[in-house]
Amino acid sequence: MLPLIKGILLGPPDHPVTVRGWVRTKRDMKNLVFVEVHDGSSFKGIQCTFDSTALDEGTLALLGDLNTGAAVEVQGLLQSSPGAGQALEVAAQALKVLGPAPAEPKDGEPPYPLQKKRHSMEFLREIAHLRPRTNTFGAVTRVRNRLSYAVHQFFQDRSFQYIHTPIITASDGEGAGSMFQVTTLDLAALAKSGKEPDYSQDFFGRWTGLAVSGQLEAEAYAAALTRVYTFGPTFRAENSHTTRHLSEFWMIEPEVAFADLEDNMALGEDFLKFLFKTILTDCQEDLEFFDTHVEKGLIKTLESVAEARFTHMTYTDAIKELEKAGPFEFKPYWGCDIQTEHERYLAETVAQGPLVVTDYPKEIKAFYMKLNDDKKTVRAMDILVPRLGEIIGGSQREEDYSKLQSRIIQLGMNPEDYRWYLDLRRYGTMPHAGFGLGFERLIQYVTGMANIRDVIPFPRSPGQAEF
Ligand code: 4AD
Ligand code: MG
Repeated sequence: MLPLIKGILLGPPDHPVTVRGWVRTKRDMKNLVFVEVHDGSSFKGIQCTFDSTALDEGTLALLGDLNTGAAVEVQGLLQSSPGAGQALEVAAQALKVLGPAPAEPKDGEPPYPLQKKRHSMEFLREIAHLRPRTNTFGAVTRVRNRLSYAVHQFFQDRSFQYIHTPIITASDGEGAGSMFQVTTLDLAALAKSGKEPDYSQDFFGRWTGLAVSGQLEAEAYAAALTRVYTFGPTFRAENSHTTRHLSEFWMIEPEVAFADLEDNMALGEDFLKFLFKTILTDCQEDLEFFDTHVEKGLIKTLESVAEARFTHMTYTDAIKELEKAGPFEFKPYWGCDIQTEHERYLAETVAQGPLVVTDYPKEIKAFYMKLNDDKKTVRAMDILVPRLGEIIGGSQREEDYSKLQSRIIQLGMNPEDYRWYLDLRRYGTMPHAGFGLGFERLIQYVTGMANIRDVIPFPRSPGQAEF
Protein backbone atom coordinates (compact mmCIF):
# COMPACT_ATOMS: atom_id res chain seq x y z
CA MET A 1 0.00 0.00 0.00
CA LEU A 2 1.19 3.50 -0.79
CA PRO A 3 1.77 5.99 2.00
CA LEU A 4 -1.27 8.16 2.76
CA ILE A 5 -1.30 11.93 2.27
CA LYS A 6 -1.43 12.33 6.05
CA GLY A 7 1.98 10.63 6.28
CA ILE A 8 3.46 12.38 3.24
CA LEU A 9 2.57 15.77 4.74
CA LEU A 10 4.78 15.00 7.72
CA GLY A 11 7.80 15.20 5.38
CA PRO A 12 10.74 15.42 5.28
CA PRO A 13 10.96 17.34 1.97
CA ASP A 14 13.21 16.68 -1.01
CA HIS A 15 12.35 13.11 -1.84
CA PRO A 16 10.25 11.56 -4.60
CA VAL A 17 6.62 10.73 -3.76
CA THR A 18 3.61 9.11 -5.37
CA VAL A 19 0.22 10.49 -4.37
CA ARG A 20 -3.08 8.77 -5.06
CA GLY A 21 -6.41 10.33 -4.34
CA TRP A 22 -9.26 12.39 -5.76
CA VAL A 23 -8.97 15.88 -7.23
CA ARG A 24 -10.67 18.46 -5.05
CA THR A 25 -9.77 21.59 -7.03
CA LYS A 26 -7.70 22.67 -10.02
CA ARG A 27 -6.44 26.24 -10.49
CA ASP A 28 -4.42 27.74 -13.34
CA MET A 29 -1.94 30.58 -12.78
CA LYS A 30 0.24 31.57 -15.73
CA ASN A 31 2.42 28.51 -16.39
CA LEU A 32 1.47 26.76 -13.21
CA VAL A 33 -1.46 24.42 -12.59
CA PHE A 34 -2.31 23.66 -8.96
CA VAL A 35 -4.19 20.43 -8.30
CA GLU A 36 -5.38 19.75 -4.77
CA VAL A 37 -5.56 15.99 -4.12
CA HIS A 38 -7.35 14.43 -1.12
CA ASP A 39 -7.37 10.83 0.10
CA GLY A 40 -9.43 11.31 3.28
CA SER A 41 -6.57 10.38 5.61
CA SER A 42 -6.49 13.93 6.98
CA PHE A 43 -8.53 17.10 6.72
CA LYS A 44 -5.89 18.60 4.46
CA GLY A 45 -5.12 17.37 0.99
CA ILE A 46 -1.81 17.87 -0.78
CA GLN A 47 -1.11 20.51 -3.40
CA CYS A 48 0.41 19.12 -6.59
CA THR A 49 1.98 21.87 -8.71
CA PHE A 50 2.48 21.25 -12.42
CA ASP A 51 4.77 23.52 -14.47
CA SER A 52 3.14 23.41 -17.90
CA THR A 53 6.34 24.56 -19.67
CA ALA A 54 8.04 21.36 -18.51
CA LEU A 55 5.29 18.86 -19.42
CA ASP A 56 4.91 16.65 -22.51
CA GLU A 57 1.87 16.94 -24.82
CA GLY A 58 0.11 13.91 -23.34
CA THR A 59 0.32 15.14 -19.73
CA LEU A 60 -0.78 18.63 -20.78
CA ALA A 61 -3.87 17.17 -22.43
CA LEU A 62 -4.71 15.06 -19.35
CA LEU A 63 -4.26 18.09 -17.13
CA GLY A 64 -6.48 20.18 -19.38
CA ASP A 65 -9.32 17.67 -19.07
CA LEU A 66 -8.87 17.09 -15.35
CA ASN A 67 -11.90 17.84 -13.17
CA THR A 68 -12.96 17.84 -9.55
CA GLY A 69 -13.70 14.28 -8.45
CA ALA A 70 -11.28 12.43 -10.73
CA ALA A 71 -9.13 9.69 -9.21
CA VAL A 72 -5.46 10.37 -9.98
CA GLU A 73 -1.93 9.25 -9.37
CA VAL A 74 0.68 12.00 -9.26
CA GLN A 75 4.42 11.46 -9.15
CA GLY A 76 6.83 14.19 -8.23
CA LEU A 77 9.17 15.63 -5.68
CA LEU A 78 8.00 16.61 -2.21
CA GLN A 79 9.31 20.08 -1.47
CA SER A 80 8.79 23.12 0.73
CA SER A 81 5.95 25.16 -0.65
CA PRO A 82 6.55 28.80 -1.57
CA GLY A 83 2.78 29.45 -1.43
CA ALA A 84 0.71 30.30 1.61
CA GLY A 85 -1.57 27.66 3.13
CA GLN A 86 0.73 24.65 3.11
CA ALA A 87 4.24 23.81 4.30
CA LEU A 88 4.89 21.11 1.71
CA GLU A 89 3.73 20.48 -1.83
CA VAL A 90 4.50 18.12 -4.68
CA ALA A 91 6.45 19.46 -7.64
CA ALA A 92 4.55 17.20 -10.03
CA GLN A 93 6.32 15.41 -12.88
CA ALA A 94 3.80 12.79 -14.04
CA LEU A 95 0.04 12.40 -13.95
CA LYS A 96 -2.16 9.33 -14.41
CA VAL A 97 -5.93 9.66 -14.46
CA LEU A 98 -7.27 6.46 -12.91
CA GLY A 99 -10.93 7.45 -13.09
CA PRO A 100 -12.25 10.66 -14.67
CA ALA A 101 -15.25 12.57 -13.28
CA PRO A 102 -16.73 14.73 -16.04
CA ALA A 103 -18.00 18.16 -15.08
CA GLU A 104 -20.41 18.19 -18.04
CA PRO A 105 -22.86 15.52 -19.23
CA LYS A 106 -20.96 12.96 -21.34
CA ASP A 107 -22.22 10.08 -23.51
CA GLY A 108 -25.69 10.49 -22.03
CA GLU A 109 -24.33 10.20 -18.46
CA PRO A 110 -24.89 12.98 -15.92
CA PRO A 111 -21.85 14.97 -14.69
CA TYR A 112 -20.14 14.50 -11.31
CA PRO A 113 -22.58 16.13 -8.89
CA LEU A 114 -20.04 17.53 -6.41
CA GLN A 115 -18.64 20.63 -7.99
CA LYS A 116 -16.35 23.20 -6.40
CA LYS A 117 -19.01 25.06 -4.40
CA ARG A 118 -20.95 24.72 -1.20
CA HIS A 119 -23.75 22.18 -1.34
CA SER A 120 -26.70 22.09 1.04
CA MET A 121 -26.95 19.26 3.56
CA GLU A 122 -30.32 18.33 2.02
CA PHE A 123 -28.76 17.94 -1.41
CA LEU A 124 -25.87 15.91 0.02
CA ARG A 125 -28.31 13.54 1.73
CA GLU A 126 -29.65 12.68 -1.73
CA ILE A 127 -26.15 11.59 -2.76
CA ALA A 128 -25.16 9.86 0.47
CA HIS A 129 -22.82 7.58 -1.49
CA LEU A 130 -20.75 10.54 -2.73
CA ARG A 131 -20.94 12.88 0.26
CA PRO A 132 -17.95 11.25 2.05
CA ARG A 133 -15.87 13.11 -0.57
CA THR A 134 -16.76 16.50 0.93
CA ASN A 135 -14.82 18.29 3.68
CA THR A 136 -17.73 18.07 6.10
CA PHE A 137 -18.36 14.35 5.75
CA GLY A 138 -14.67 13.51 5.71
CA ALA A 139 -14.33 15.33 9.03
CA VAL A 140 -17.46 13.72 10.52
CA THR A 141 -16.19 10.30 9.49
CA ARG A 142 -12.77 10.76 11.07
CA VAL A 143 -14.31 12.06 14.31
CA ARG A 144 -16.75 9.13 14.36
CA ASN A 145 -13.90 6.70 13.83
CA ARG A 146 -11.74 8.17 16.58
CA LEU A 147 -14.64 8.20 19.03
CA SER A 148 -15.53 4.56 18.25
CA TYR A 149 -12.00 3.59 19.18
CA ALA A 150 -12.09 5.82 22.28
CA VAL A 151 -15.24 4.07 23.51
CA HIS A 152 -13.35 0.77 23.60
CA GLN A 153 -10.26 2.40 25.12
CA PHE A 154 -12.28 3.89 27.95
CA PHE A 155 -14.02 0.65 28.93
CA GLN A 156 -11.10 -1.70 28.27
CA ASP A 157 -8.85 0.45 30.49
CA ARG A 158 -11.42 -0.01 33.26
CA SER A 159 -11.72 -3.80 32.88
CA PHE A 160 -15.16 -3.84 31.27
CA GLN A 161 -15.87 -6.85 29.03
CA TYR A 162 -17.21 -6.02 25.56
CA ILE A 163 -20.27 -8.18 24.86
CA HIS A 164 -22.34 -8.63 21.73
CA THR A 165 -26.05 -8.59 22.34
CA PRO A 166 -28.53 -9.93 19.78
CA ILE A 167 -30.00 -7.81 17.03
CA ILE A 168 -32.99 -10.08 16.49
CA THR A 169 -34.86 -10.47 19.76
CA ALA A 170 -38.21 -11.34 21.27
CA SER A 171 -37.76 -8.84 24.15
CA ASP A 172 -38.94 -5.26 23.99
CA GLY A 173 -35.97 -3.86 25.91
CA GLU A 174 -37.66 -0.56 26.72
CA GLY A 175 -41.21 -1.89 26.93
CA ALA A 176 -42.18 0.97 24.65
CA GLY A 177 -43.57 -0.99 21.71
CA SER A 178 -41.54 0.69 19.00
CA MET A 179 -39.96 -2.44 17.51
CA PHE A 180 -39.55 -3.35 13.85
CA GLN A 181 -40.95 -6.81 13.23
CA VAL A 182 -38.78 -9.63 11.85
CA THR A 183 -40.78 -12.33 10.09
CA THR A 184 -40.62 -14.83 7.25
CA LEU A 185 -44.39 -15.38 7.23
CA ASP A 186 -46.06 -14.65 3.89
CA LEU A 187 -47.98 -11.63 5.10
CA ALA A 188 -49.49 -10.89 1.69
CA ALA A 189 -50.97 -14.42 1.45
CA LEU A 190 -52.22 -14.18 5.04
CA ALA A 191 -53.92 -10.88 4.32
CA LYS A 192 -55.63 -12.38 1.25
CA SER A 193 -56.89 -15.37 3.20
CA GLY A 194 -58.12 -13.08 5.99
CA LYS A 195 -56.31 -15.23 8.61
CA GLU A 196 -54.47 -13.81 11.62
CA PRO A 197 -50.71 -14.52 11.54
CA ASP A 198 -49.72 -17.47 13.76
CA TYR A 199 -46.29 -16.61 15.08
CA SER A 200 -45.73 -20.10 16.43
CA GLN A 201 -45.38 -20.97 12.72
CA ASP A 202 -42.91 -18.10 12.14
CA PHE A 203 -39.16 -18.60 11.63
CA PHE A 204 -38.27 -18.48 15.34
CA GLY A 205 -41.53 -20.01 16.52
CA ARG A 206 -42.53 -16.72 18.11
CA TRP A 207 -42.90 -13.01 17.39
CA THR A 208 -39.49 -11.35 16.97
CA GLY A 209 -38.21 -7.90 16.15
CA LEU A 210 -35.06 -5.77 15.91
CA ALA A 211 -33.54 -4.81 19.26
CA VAL A 212 -34.31 -1.34 20.64
CA SER A 213 -31.52 -1.80 23.17
CA GLY A 214 -29.03 -4.43 24.36
CA GLN A 215 -29.59 -3.60 28.00
CA LEU A 216 -31.60 -6.60 29.19
CA GLU A 217 -29.04 -9.03 27.78
CA ALA A 218 -26.19 -6.86 29.11
CA GLU A 219 -27.75 -7.17 32.57
CA ALA A 220 -27.50 -10.98 32.31
CA TYR A 221 -23.77 -10.65 31.64
CA ALA A 222 -23.18 -7.99 34.32
CA ALA A 223 -24.75 -10.49 36.72
CA ALA A 224 -21.75 -12.73 36.03
CA LEU A 225 -18.85 -10.60 34.77
CA THR A 226 -19.59 -7.49 36.88
CA ARG A 227 -18.56 -4.81 34.35
CA VAL A 228 -19.73 -5.14 30.75
CA TYR A 229 -20.62 -2.90 27.82
CA THR A 230 -22.24 -3.20 24.42
CA PHE A 231 -21.66 -1.00 21.38
CA GLY A 232 -23.94 -1.84 18.51
CA PRO A 233 -26.81 -0.85 16.26
CA THR A 234 -30.30 -0.44 17.72
CA PHE A 235 -33.58 0.09 15.94
CA ARG A 236 -36.64 2.15 16.75
CA ALA A 237 -39.82 2.19 14.69
CA GLU A 238 -40.95 5.59 16.02
CA ASN A 239 -42.45 7.99 13.56
CA SER A 240 -40.18 10.84 14.71
CA HIS A 241 -39.25 13.43 12.11
CA THR A 242 -36.74 15.41 14.15
CA THR A 243 -33.11 16.44 13.84
CA ARG A 244 -32.13 14.08 16.70
CA HIS A 245 -33.94 10.81 15.95
CA LEU A 246 -32.90 7.97 13.66
CA SER A 247 -34.65 4.65 13.05
CA GLU A 248 -31.27 2.89 13.16
CA PHE A 249 -28.64 4.30 15.50
CA TRP A 250 -25.64 3.07 17.45
CA MET A 251 -25.71 2.89 21.20
CA ILE A 252 -23.09 2.27 23.87
CA GLU A 253 -24.52 0.59 26.95
CA PRO A 254 -22.36 -0.12 30.00
CA GLU A 255 -23.89 -2.21 32.79
CA VAL A 256 -22.25 -2.58 36.20
CA ALA A 257 -23.02 -4.98 39.03
CA PHE A 258 -22.79 -3.73 42.63
CA ALA A 259 -23.22 -0.15 41.41
CA ASP A 260 -25.88 2.42 42.31
CA LEU A 261 -27.17 5.59 40.65
CA GLU A 262 -24.31 7.73 42.02
CA ASP A 263 -21.73 5.34 40.53
CA ASN A 264 -23.65 5.42 37.28
CA MET A 265 -23.72 9.23 37.11
CA ALA A 266 -20.00 9.39 37.81
CA LEU A 267 -19.28 6.80 35.11
CA GLY A 268 -21.37 8.71 32.56
CA GLU A 269 -19.63 11.98 33.35
CA ASP A 270 -16.13 10.47 33.23
CA PHE A 271 -16.98 8.71 29.97
CA LEU A 272 -18.19 11.86 28.20
CA LYS A 273 -15.22 13.89 29.42
CA PHE A 274 -12.81 11.23 28.23
CA LEU A 275 -14.43 11.29 24.78
CA PHE A 276 -14.30 15.10 24.59
CA LYS A 277 -10.63 15.19 25.61
CA THR A 278 -9.71 12.49 23.12
CA ILE A 279 -11.01 14.34 20.10
CA LEU A 280 -9.71 17.69 21.31
CA THR A 281 -6.22 16.22 21.16
CA ASP A 282 -6.58 13.78 18.27
CA CYS A 283 -8.97 15.48 15.82
CA GLN A 284 -7.73 19.07 15.99
CA GLU A 285 -7.93 19.93 12.30
CA ASP A 286 -11.38 18.44 11.92
CA LEU A 287 -12.63 20.29 15.00
CA GLU A 288 -11.16 23.56 13.73
CA PHE A 289 -13.20 23.10 10.57
CA PHE A 290 -16.41 22.54 12.57
CA ASP A 291 -15.57 25.51 14.79
CA THR A 292 -15.13 27.81 11.77
CA HIS A 293 -17.86 26.56 9.46
CA VAL A 294 -20.49 24.76 11.54
CA GLU A 295 -20.67 25.90 15.16
CA LYS A 296 -18.68 28.93 16.30
CA GLY A 297 -17.04 28.48 19.71
CA LEU A 298 -17.28 24.69 19.58
CA ILE A 299 -13.71 24.01 20.70
CA LYS A 300 -13.93 26.39 23.66
CA THR A 301 -17.18 24.76 24.76
CA LEU A 302 -15.71 21.27 24.55
CA GLU A 303 -12.61 22.36 26.45
CA SER A 304 -14.66 23.82 29.26
CA VAL A 305 -17.14 20.93 29.58
CA ALA A 306 -14.26 18.45 29.59
CA GLU A 307 -13.05 20.05 32.83
CA ALA A 308 -16.09 21.41 34.70
CA ARG A 309 -18.26 19.34 37.04
CA PHE A 310 -21.63 18.50 35.51
CA THR A 311 -24.62 20.09 37.25
CA HIS A 312 -26.98 17.67 39.07
CA MET A 313 -30.69 18.23 39.65
CA THR A 314 -33.70 16.09 40.50
CA TYR A 315 -36.65 15.94 38.13
CA THR A 316 -38.76 17.69 40.79
CA ASP A 317 -36.33 20.62 40.94
CA ALA A 318 -36.07 20.69 37.16
CA ILE A 319 -39.86 21.07 36.92
CA LYS A 320 -39.71 23.96 39.42
CA GLU A 321 -37.11 25.68 37.22
CA LEU A 322 -39.28 25.14 34.17
CA GLU A 323 -42.44 26.44 35.89
CA LYS A 324 -40.58 29.66 36.73
CA ALA A 325 -39.49 30.08 33.11
CA GLY A 326 -41.27 29.86 29.79
CA PRO A 327 -43.47 30.29 27.95
CA PHE A 328 -42.95 26.88 26.38
CA GLU A 329 -44.92 25.32 23.58
CA PHE A 330 -45.67 22.50 26.01
CA LYS A 331 -46.52 23.72 29.53
CA PRO A 332 -44.45 21.84 32.12
CA TYR A 333 -46.01 20.25 35.25
CA TRP A 334 -44.90 17.59 37.71
CA GLY A 335 -45.47 14.27 35.99
CA CYS A 336 -45.02 15.50 32.43
CA ASP A 337 -42.48 14.06 30.06
CA ILE A 338 -39.64 16.56 29.74
CA GLN A 339 -39.79 17.76 26.14
CA THR A 340 -36.77 18.67 24.02
CA GLU A 341 -37.52 22.41 24.47
CA HIS A 342 -37.44 21.88 28.27
CA GLU A 343 -34.26 19.81 28.14
CA ARG A 344 -32.59 22.52 26.10
CA TYR A 345 -33.70 25.29 28.43
CA LEU A 346 -32.40 23.38 31.44
CA ALA A 347 -29.01 22.66 29.85
CA GLU A 348 -28.55 25.96 28.01
CA THR A 349 -29.97 28.49 30.47
CA VAL A 350 -30.07 26.86 33.90
CA ALA A 351 -26.95 24.68 33.89
CA GLN A 352 -25.18 26.36 30.95
CA GLY A 353 -23.55 23.04 30.20
CA PRO A 354 -24.19 19.33 30.70
CA LEU A 355 -26.83 18.56 33.31
CA VAL A 356 -27.71 15.29 35.02
CA VAL A 357 -31.42 15.03 35.87
CA THR A 358 -32.40 12.23 38.28
CA ASP A 359 -35.42 10.65 39.96
CA TYR A 360 -38.13 10.91 37.33
CA PRO A 361 -41.77 9.89 37.96
CA LYS A 362 -42.10 6.16 37.36
CA GLU A 363 -44.95 6.66 34.88
CA ILE A 364 -42.69 8.29 32.29
CA LYS A 365 -39.79 5.85 32.56
CA ALA A 366 -39.16 2.21 31.60
CA PHE A 367 -40.38 -0.76 33.64
CA TYR A 368 -36.96 -1.91 34.88
CA MET A 369 -35.96 1.18 36.87
CA LYS A 370 -35.55 0.95 40.65
CA LEU A 371 -38.40 2.43 42.64
CA ASN A 372 -37.48 5.10 45.22
CA ASP A 373 -38.81 4.97 48.79
CA ASP A 374 -41.39 7.63 47.88
CA LYS A 375 -42.99 4.98 45.59
CA LYS A 376 -43.54 7.74 43.02
CA THR A 377 -40.14 8.25 41.43
CA VAL A 378 -37.47 5.94 40.06
CA ARG A 379 -33.67 5.98 40.15
CA ALA A 380 -33.37 7.28 36.60
CA MET A 381 -30.76 9.63 35.21
CA ASP A 382 -30.68 11.50 31.93
CA ILE A 383 -27.70 13.58 30.88
CA LEU A 384 -28.81 16.65 28.94
CA VAL A 385 -26.58 18.91 26.87
CA PRO A 386 -27.07 22.32 25.23
CA ARG A 387 -28.37 22.29 21.62
CA LEU A 388 -29.54 18.64 21.77
CA GLY A 389 -31.13 17.79 25.08
CA GLU A 390 -30.82 14.12 26.10
CA ILE A 391 -27.55 12.45 25.16
CA ILE A 392 -27.49 9.70 27.82
CA GLY A 393 -30.38 7.83 29.44
CA GLY A 394 -29.83 5.37 32.26
CA SER A 395 -30.82 4.17 35.69
CA GLN A 396 -30.22 1.95 38.65
CA ARG A 397 -32.22 -1.22 37.96
CA GLU A 398 -34.93 -2.76 40.12
CA GLU A 399 -33.17 -5.74 41.69
CA ASP A 400 -36.14 -6.86 43.80
CA TYR A 401 -37.96 -9.78 42.21
CA SER A 402 -41.47 -9.05 43.43
CA LYS A 403 -41.30 -5.30 42.80
CA LEU A 404 -40.11 -5.88 39.25
CA GLN A 405 -42.73 -8.54 38.61
CA SER A 406 -45.57 -6.34 39.86
CA ARG A 407 -44.33 -3.44 37.72
CA ILE A 408 -44.37 -5.66 34.63
CA ILE A 409 -47.93 -6.80 35.42
CA GLN A 410 -49.10 -3.26 36.26
CA LEU A 411 -47.92 -2.06 32.86
CA GLY A 412 -49.90 -4.78 31.12
CA MET A 413 -46.78 -6.55 29.89
CA ASN A 414 -46.67 -10.34 29.80
CA PRO A 415 -44.43 -11.66 32.64
CA GLU A 416 -43.94 -14.87 30.63
CA ASP A 417 -42.06 -12.83 27.99
CA TYR A 418 -39.72 -11.56 30.73
CA ARG A 419 -39.26 -14.90 32.49
CA TRP A 420 -35.53 -15.06 31.80
CA TYR A 421 -35.08 -11.41 32.83
CA LEU A 422 -36.91 -12.07 36.11
CA ASP A 423 -34.58 -15.06 36.71
CA LEU A 424 -31.76 -12.55 37.14
CA ARG A 425 -33.65 -11.35 40.25
CA ARG A 426 -34.64 -14.88 41.33
CA TYR A 427 -31.06 -16.04 41.50
CA GLY A 428 -28.15 -14.06 42.92
CA THR A 429 -29.70 -10.63 42.48
CA MET A 430 -27.65 -7.53 43.38
CA PRO A 431 -27.83 -3.76 42.98
CA HIS A 432 -26.78 -2.77 39.47
CA ALA A 433 -26.95 0.18 37.11
CA GLY A 434 -26.16 1.24 33.58
CA PHE A 435 -26.90 3.72 30.84
CA GLY A 436 -27.09 4.18 27.09
CA LEU A 437 -25.21 6.83 25.13
CA GLY A 438 -26.62 7.56 21.68
CA PHE A 439 -23.49 7.52 19.55
CA GLU A 440 -24.91 9.85 16.87
CA ARG A 441 -26.07 12.36 19.49
CA LEU A 442 -22.52 12.35 20.81
CA ILE A 443 -21.14 13.02 17.32
CA GLN A 444 -23.69 15.81 16.85
CA TYR A 445 -22.63 17.37 20.11
CA VAL A 446 -18.90 17.34 19.40
CA THR A 447 -19.15 18.46 15.77
CA GLY A 448 -22.01 20.94 16.06
CA MET A 449 -23.78 19.26 13.14
CA ALA A 450 -27.42 20.32 13.18
CA ASN A 451 -29.06 17.17 11.82
CA ILE A 452 -28.45 13.64 13.12
CA ARG A 453 -28.85 12.34 9.55
CA ASP A 454 -25.54 13.97 8.74
CA VAL A 455 -23.42 12.18 11.35
CA ILE A 456 -24.10 8.59 10.26
CA PRO A 457 -22.98 7.33 6.84
CA PHE A 458 -26.33 6.05 5.53
CA PRO A 459 -29.18 7.36 7.69
CA ARG A 460 -32.43 5.47 8.16
CA SER A 461 -35.43 7.56 9.15
CA PRO A 462 -39.15 7.29 8.42
CA GLY A 463 -39.59 7.11 4.66
CA GLN A 464 -35.86 6.96 3.98
CA ALA A 465 -33.66 3.90 3.42
CA GLU A 466 -32.05 4.45 0.03
CA PHE A 467 -28.41 3.36 -0.45
O1 4AD B 1 -33.05 6.65 26.73
P1 4AD B 1 -32.96 5.41 25.90
O2 4AD B 1 -34.17 4.96 25.18
O3 4AD B 1 -32.43 4.28 26.89
C1 4AD B 1 -32.24 2.97 26.62
O4 4AD B 1 -32.39 2.44 25.54
C2 4AD B 1 -31.69 2.20 27.80
N1 4AD B 1 -31.87 0.77 27.53
C3 4AD B 1 -30.24 2.56 28.00
C4 4AD B 1 -29.64 1.83 29.18
O5 4AD B 1 -29.92 2.20 30.31
N2 4AD B 1 -28.81 0.85 28.94
O6 4AD B 1 -31.80 5.58 24.83
C5 4AD B 1 -30.48 5.88 25.25
C6 4AD B 1 -29.88 6.96 24.38
C7 4AD B 1 -30.61 8.29 24.45
O7 4AD B 1 -30.20 9.03 25.56
C8 4AD B 1 -30.23 8.93 23.14
O8 4AD B 1 -28.93 9.49 23.23
C9 4AD B 1 -30.14 7.74 22.20
O9 4AD B 1 -29.96 6.59 23.00
N3 4AD B 1 -31.36 7.58 21.41
C10 4AD B 1 -31.44 7.86 20.10
N4 4AD B 1 -30.53 8.32 19.22
C11 4AD B 1 -30.91 8.50 17.95
N5 4AD B 1 -32.15 8.21 17.48
C12 4AD B 1 -33.10 7.74 18.32
N6 4AD B 1 -34.31 7.43 17.84
C13 4AD B 1 -32.77 7.53 19.69
N7 4AD B 1 -33.42 7.08 20.77
C14 4AD B 1 -32.57 7.11 21.79
MG1 MG C 1 -34.29 8.18 27.21
